[in-house]
Amino acid sequence: MDCNIFDPVELPCGRTVENRLVKVVAMYEHMSNFSGGSPNEFHYGLYSEWAKHGWGMVLTGNVQVSPQHLTLGRDIVVPATLNAEDLKPFERLAEVIHGGVDGARSLAIMQLSHAGRQSARFIGGRSPFVAPLAPSPVRVGAGNPGAVRDVIADFVFHTLFQAPTEMTTQDILHVQSSFVRGSLLAYESGFDGVQVHAAHGYLLAQFMNPKSNIRNDEYSAAPENNIRMLHEIVEAIRKVVPTTFIIGIKINSADYVASGSTEEVSQQGEQCILDHIRTISSWGIIDFIEISGGDYEKPDFMASVGSQQSERQAFFAQFSQTVMKDLHRSPTPFSSIPLVLLTGGLRSHSHLQTALVSGHADLLGIGRGAVLCPDLPKILRSQLHNSKSPSTWADRPFAHEPAAVLGASKWLPNVKLVGAGFGSAWYIIRMRDIAVSQIKNPGAEPPPLDYDQGGLFAFFKMWAWFDFGRATVWILGISTALVVGFFCYH
Ligand SMILES: Cc1cc2nc3c(=O)[nH]c(=O)nc-3n(C[C@H](O)[C@H](O)[C@H](O)COP(=O)(O)O)c2cc1C
Repeated sequence: MDCNIFDPVELPCGRTVENRLVKVVAMYEHMSNFSGGSPNEFHYGLYSEWAKHGWGMVLTGNVQVSPQHLTLGRDIVVPATLNAEDLKPFERLAEVIHGGVDGARSLAIMQLSHAGRQSARFIGGRSPFVAPLAPSPVRVGAGNPGAVRDVIADFVFHTLFQAPTEMTTQDILHVQSSFVRGSLLAYESGFDGVQVHAAHGYLLAQFMNPKSNIRNDEYSAAPENNIRMLHEIVEAIRKVVPTTFIIGIKINSADYVASGSTEEVSQQGEQCILDHIRTISSWGIIDFIEISGGDYEKPDFMASVGSQQSERQAFFAQFSQTVMKDLHRSPTPFSSIPLVLLTGGLRSHSHLQTALVSGHADLLGIGRGAVLCPDLPKILRSQLHNSKSPSTWADRPFAHEPAAVLGASKWLPNVKLVGAGFGSAWYIIRMRDIAVSQIKNPGAEPPPLDYDQGGLFAFFKMWAWFDFGRATVWILGISTALVVGFFCYH
């Protein structure tokens, strides 16, 4: 296939992606207020850096459709009402993403998500004694009979996650309408589209996975039912947005089989997801499908390059090639076939080019690489234009991963979430550094990368970050209430 990273490509809805580089796949920023909120100056600062460099598409981190089901507490949340005042911060974010220099205009895509049972106990936006909603009352860490269990893993999962409450049909309909409202928010505030997050063990993935869905009704994990929830959501979204509004889906490449030998599980799992993707394509309303993998019990999506888990990422690449072939053999008209977005471990020009040329993907998703190297499209462009011998740079990674992240998986090896958490913290701190530097001086280069910063230190730094203005208002408010109370009492 004769295809280049900088070739434009058309989506089924008719919109064009100017090149194949997608940041900047969704990455949770941890920048909103505690217990969730709208985008703010930090988000604008961060996204303005990516906007400068000509990415084809820019996805936001997950925007939660339910304020009671956050991930790490500082999520962007779809507001309760969509009046002009509520839309403003989202309009500003869309403007920032669109506002590239030199005429480069990235498509702005809002990722919509509901964490379901993976919404943690103290920071998920609920009181600590209110359980999250999920398809079935199966706690994270409890529904995986094949997993290595130990006391520490059980303790960590028990402390962080509650046994969820099984959703009623009314809850299901409510969640569906929340996704539709999220899409209206995206549309009305000027985003070009949404990506519905149905991967990484979040609510919609929970419906598809027999380890988290033991229902017997029409939303069960049986093959004929397990993508009903996703289908009803995207169909309802398509009805309220124009045909040119982009709708994408993020989905896992496996994890749809409850038990069996590893080979059986992976073969059945692969067949099952291929069937899903075929079905999704036949709906004729989806513009792109991002293939990823893993969940909080097994965070494959956070594998480091060179680690054992990165073999899983190579598997995503192989699998996405199978998907591409399968889709193009299907009876769905060519113009309605969703583009395939491959994410995970793409770290060098030759990785990117091979994925395109070998037909592994139509679009190339870069997460951590885009944090290490926000100007990647510019660098690749100038390498292509200026260098006569690609062999000198094509295989070189565009940025080295920090040791903190490579080492993080050694922490509590049976609770991979902890290692992944320390790894993510390093990137979250880096995103914050970029944001702060852009707020101080919008034209400046981001500060140098701090490779000496450890994962544990990044983790503390990630949490020890307050909105001092708001904290002061709270402290003053509480002190006043105490003083008034004291005098009234006497
Ligand atoms: C700090 C951080 C936050 C992330 N947040 C999200 C998210 O909000 N939604 C999502 O779908 N994936 C999220 N991911 C996963 C990435 O989208 C991506 O699948 C993963 O990082 C693998 O791609 P990479 O090897 O290019 O980084 C996150 C990853 C990181 C490192």
